[in-house]
Amino acid sequence: MLRWLLVFSALGLGAWGDAPWEETQDKLRSELLQYALSNISQLIEKVRPVLNDVSTMVSHKEWGAEEVGCSTQLARPVDFLVTHHIPGLECHNQTTCGQRLRELRAYHMHNNSWCGLAYNFLVGDDGRVYEGVGWDIQGLHTQGYNNVSLGLAFFGTKEGHSPSPAALSAMEGLIFHAMLKGHLSPMFVQPLLVKGENCLAPKQKARPKKACPTIVLRPAWKARETHCPKLSLPAKYVIIIQTAGRTCHMSDECHQLVQDIQSLFMDRYSTCDTRYNFLVGQDGVIYEGVGWNVQGSHTDGYNDIALGIAFMGTFSGVSPNAAALQAAQDLIECAVDKGYLTPSYLLVGQKDVVNTLSPGQALYDIIKSWPHFKH
Ligand SMILES: *[C@@H]1O[C@H](CO)[C@@H](O)[C@H](O)[C@H]1NC(C)=O
Ligand SMILES: *[C@@H]1O[C@H](CO)[C@@H](O)[C@H](O)[C@H]1NC(C)=O
Ligand SMILES: *[C@@H]1O[C@H](CO)[C@@H](O)[C@H](O)[C@H]1NC(C)=O
Ligand SMILES: *[C@@H]1O[C@H](CO)[C@@H](O)[C@H](O)[C@H]1NC(C)=O
Repeated sequence: MLRWLLVFSALGLGAWGDAPWEETQDKLRSELLQYALSNISQLIEKVRPVLNDVSTMVSHKEWGAEEVGCSTQLARPVDFLVTHHIPGLECHNQTTCGQRLRELRAYHMHNNSWCGLAYNFLVGDDGRVYEGVGWDIQGLHTQGYNNVSLGLAFFGTKEGHSPSPAALSAMEGLIFHAMLKGHLSPMFVQPLLVKGENCLAPKQKARPKKACPTIVLRPAWKARETHCPKLSLPAKYVIIIQTAGRTCHMSDECHQLVQDIQSLFMDRYSTCDTRYNFLVGQDGVIYEGVGWNVQGSHTDGYNDIALGIAFMGTFSGVSPNAAALQAAQDLIECAVDKGYLTPSYLLVGQKDVVNTLSPGQALYDIIKSWPHFKH
């Protein structure tokens, strides 16, 4: 079975200054895009592996496939990026990588009866990019996503090992190139592709049930009434988010902030309600956003299967305080105990699944050690 990797969500564009309150995540994302498009010197640095050295791209003819085979056109730009890796297909130079590709292609065509190699591009540990079906043709890498995504694969990596630095850098260059040339939307989403799986994470040791943390319910913070789509429970994911705006330390301040966030999204961005299922203040308290039973609108592609938990503030340099972190963890445990979250749930940072800086590096470094973290 093919396994996937999610390694590029941050894209290494460097740290951001503290965003003023008005700049919500959407704004941040669009700024990220503007920044990427306007700061040419930095961009050229990033795409140098691909743009400067054309020899790093090995065309399908060069590695020995006369014809691409497949012919269904892919409409650009696509909104999804799917990154696979193919264990057991090691190679460290062009000769061997070419050989492996011919074997893989023969396998896909003869054993799977596919029209050609399943991926749009593959990246070898030698740091070269090998053309599969290319930019304009649909691959066959991921059922349900082939017509809306680019499928990129590392080959030559053992399970449990990272691709080589050369391969990572080549992949990063390839993704930038795809955005720059309009093949991939700069707001692309990396789906985790487990909507249908029952067993997401290994069973964890039984732990004593804990009382749920105090949740400040909607009436208490004077939420506006809304009618948004229902979330079918149990959810499969927890997505950790930063609101990227102002933060709050005192109860009054946090009530007001939660209310302001709801208004901002409803009035300025026309979302159905606040975007998050729950919000966490630096007062160490959980605030009900849309709650357990309603879909948030935090992360395209995940709102119907994930609980979005947003820490109020910006956490690139400084992490949330201990009380806030504890409250969020208690909320997650409580969600499992109450059946709102499947016991085999996965926990990710928002940047693991969409192109964003959220939840901020400092917070991300902390959640990496939380149970069920997956990236
Ligand atoms: C663009 O990137 C360069 C190199 O990292 C940096 O020195 C410069 O300050 C950036 N310019 C802007 C406008 O952000
Ligand atoms: C390529 O790699 C293979 C396997 O590691 C090795 O046997 C072969 O000599 C290498 N070829 C070149 C040209 O380096
Ligand atoms: C693929 O098909 C070939 C030819 O039919 C067969 O010899 C080979 O064993 C198959 N490989 C796998 C892994 O099924
Ligand atoms: C992709 O395929 C699905 C299922 O066949 C279809 O519903 C969808 O409209 C297609 N999307 C595009 C962009 O072609």
